[in-house]
Amino acid sequence: MTSATDIRRGALDAIDRIVHGGTTPQDVLQRTVELLHDRFDHYSWVGIYLVEGDELVLGSWQGPEATEHVRIPVGRGICGAAAASGRTEVVDDVNDDSKYLACFPSTRSEIVVPIHFNGEVVGEIDIDSDTPAAFDEIDRRFLEHVARMLSSPCGAALGRFAWGPDGR
Ligand code: SME
Repeated sequence: MTSATDIRRGALDAIDRIVHGGTTPQDVLQRTVELLHDRFDHYSWVGIYLVEGDELVLGSWQGPEATEHVRIPVGRGICGAAAASGRTEVVDDVNDDSKYLACFPSTRSEIVVPIHFNGEVVGEIDIDSDTPAAFDEIDRRFLEHVARMLSSPCGAALGRFAWGPDGR
């Protein structure tokens, strides 16, 4: 049987290959959300927002349906709170959090993990789950690791530096 640790280690290896093989930063971000959505049953909807000025703009996403929240002001919602503080937000019950901006009726819990580049928040991973309290400490540490791997792709997606042929 494959353990939760092995599944996450395999995902990190696969994301590393995506980062180093991605033709464009957008391609890296899209393939990463697809991988996270496909490999983890409790990741019902996976998106990456990029910080543009004082707004979060939805870049890549994978899930059963599109969200209406394609632009979120920094400071609004769970996404905006994580961008403002630079810290991961884990919400076990979205109906119990007054900050929550509803996207899908099926969502029960959510995690938002900021992505830093050169000391600034440049983006974030946002995952909605149809399972209550779906995100534990293992998910948090795993997704914070993924966020560190996405630092360069997000910085490049925002034009902070030119993306090279080997994904750097
Ligand atoms: N629920 C988020 C909004 C984004 S959707 O989950 C895709 C929030 O409260 O910020």
